[in-house]
Amino acid sequence: MGSHSSGNPGLMSFVISFLNQKGGVGKSTLSINVAACLAMLGQKVLLIDADKQGTSSTWASLREETPFQVVNMARENMARDALRLAAEFDFTIIDGPPQAETISRSCIVASDLVVLPIEPGGASRWSSDLTVRQLKEAQELKQSLKCGFVVSRKIGSTVLGRDTRLMAADAGIPVFDTEIEQRIAYAEALTMGKTIFEWSGAGQAVIDIQNLSHELLEVLIEQNIRTGTEAKAAIG
Ligand SMILES: Nc1ncnc2c1ncn2[C@@H]1O[C@H](COP(=O)(O)OP(=O)(O)OP(=O)(O)O)[C@@H](O)[C@H]1O
Ligand SMILES: [Mg+2]
Repeated sequence: MGSHSSGNPGLMSFVISFLNQKGGVGKSTLSINVAACLAMLGQKVLLIDADKQGTSSTWASLREETPFQVVNMARENMARDALRLAAEFDFTIIDGPPQAETISRSCIVASDLVVLPIEPGGASRWSSDLTVRQLKEAQELKQSLKCGFVVSRKIGSTVLGRDTRLMAADAGIPVFDTEIEQRIAYAEALTMGKTIFEWSGAGQAVIDIQNLSHELLEVLIEQNIRTGTEAKAAIG
């Protein structure tokens, strides 16, 4: 966060990763659309594609111009380079890979906030997941590292059980209030190189992405204020 800002005049510089070892949960979809939402709020945004499959890079290649910068950095020791680049931006979003243990650890190391998209039924076995274990390990070393599950690809009225929410909260992994529904607009926009904001008839999807982005901002800004307060207290 603020600590690794230097190149951008806005003083704030945050890195948010979307990670889950499980494939197809919406990491790329959320990365692209949250990046687009932050760019629409006037922020200078970088999207790092840390997946060799290159979903975000392919998406970007379908466009003449992107509303934010997109770079491909699917390599094992990407954390240092990611942070160096991130210092030039207000927000850096990392679209993480599935099943790439070392790269995903690098993504975590570079992050201020790790968001784990999960399908509504997918939280029951979360505690044994590699991504969660990596995250917990990283939090031992870096207590300011924030995280949260986001329910993704929710179909109809399936709800994440209250028990699961409580269990996750107990383990220090809160679940964001916003739930991303399964909507064809997300898939269509992605394959056409568009953001959800550029897709007609994506009304509720737009609202969901805006709500999620606001929740992410709240977590980061709250963290920044607290760090600032602690810093002041330390100075005396
Ligand atoms: N909320 C949604 N509604 C409808 N389709 C979705 C939604 N989220 C993702 N998809 C679709 O599901 C597929 C997988 O999504 P996406 O590529 O975002 O997942 P991922 O976690 O990045 O996958 P991978 O692990 O392979 O990188 C894509 O075809 C995408 O369009
Ligand atoms: Mg992906």
